[in-house]
Amino acid sequence: MKNVFDYQIEFSGLQNRMAQMFDPKSGHTVMLAVDHGYFQGAPAGLINLRKTIEPLLQYCDAISPTIGGLKTSIDSRMRTPIILRATGGNSMRKPEELDDEIITVSVEEMVKLNAVGFTVSCYIGLDSQTQTIQNLTSLTEEAHRFGLVSIGITAVGADPILTKFVKGEREDGGELTQEDKKEAIKYLKHACRVLSENGADIIKTYYCEGFEEVVESCLSPIVIAGGTKRPTKEALEFTYNAIKAGAVGVDMGRNIFQNENPVAMIRAVRAVVHENKTAEEALHLYEKYTKE
Ligand code: R5P
Repeated sequence: MKNVFDYQIEFSGLQNRMAQMFDPKSGHTVMLAVDHGYFQGAPAGLINLRKTIEPLLQYCDAISPTIGGLKTSIDSRMRTPIILRATGGNSMRKPEELDDEIITVSVEEMVKLNAVGFTVSCYIGLDSQTQTIQNLTSLTEEAHRFGLVSIGITAVGADPILTKFVKGEREDGGELTQEDKKEAIKYLKHACRVLSENGADIIKTYYCEGFEEVVESCLSPIVIAGGTKRPTKEALEFTYNAIKAGAVGVDMGRNIFQNENPVAMIRAVRAVVHENKTAEEALHLYEKYTKE
């Protein structure tokens, strides 16, 4: 006996674009973030964007460039799904205004450039909270008319307290205290949920200890950013811990392209994200790949 739910009424472009970004077997993704220039200028590893991207492209499930990076440094014939950076307007030359972002790419432009989705930074708890949530909601509403995937990023700008809790960067260079760690979980749980409730399809955030709680309280799938460059072992460890805690992948930049061997690193990250390898196993693979 059939019922009406046995029939597919409509093909979903949004779901199809999501499927392009995720590995069909693992349901996870390794996105390569190369959009840092939109506020950092020319950071280490991205001076020659084309040269950085070319060897890594075959190992990522999606690539996250800026509109300028895409137009100048990526070949139109490539087949990797594009996640376009859609907000900006800030620069490290004005650190006090790092959270002051506006929409920089129209949905029409995204469609023209064949993006499958886009990223919007939202600065929860900072002065531009309302403005940046509005960037997310207005772009998502319009982009969903065309089936594009919306990714909301929990960004913290130059806020000293959030930078300490969320990115683990203490001014004195010391370790985070238990209190700091609790604050990080509390903030990230709140920020991820807010972005999810405001309609982002995927949330991009930072890893913290106790990440299970962040995943559990978020309605949408989460991918992690890598943050500042860490030693290879450490980067593989937090990637492993994030996936184990329920993240569906990474949108990682500096810990790949600033690594001493970016190709070996992205391949090791893939082993963790797609093949359930432990950090230790992935480190062995990394060492093997560096010799190839
Ligand atoms: C900020 O510059 C962007 O959102 C980056 O794409 C994001 O921070 C991921 O890159 P990374 O792994 O270097 O933090």
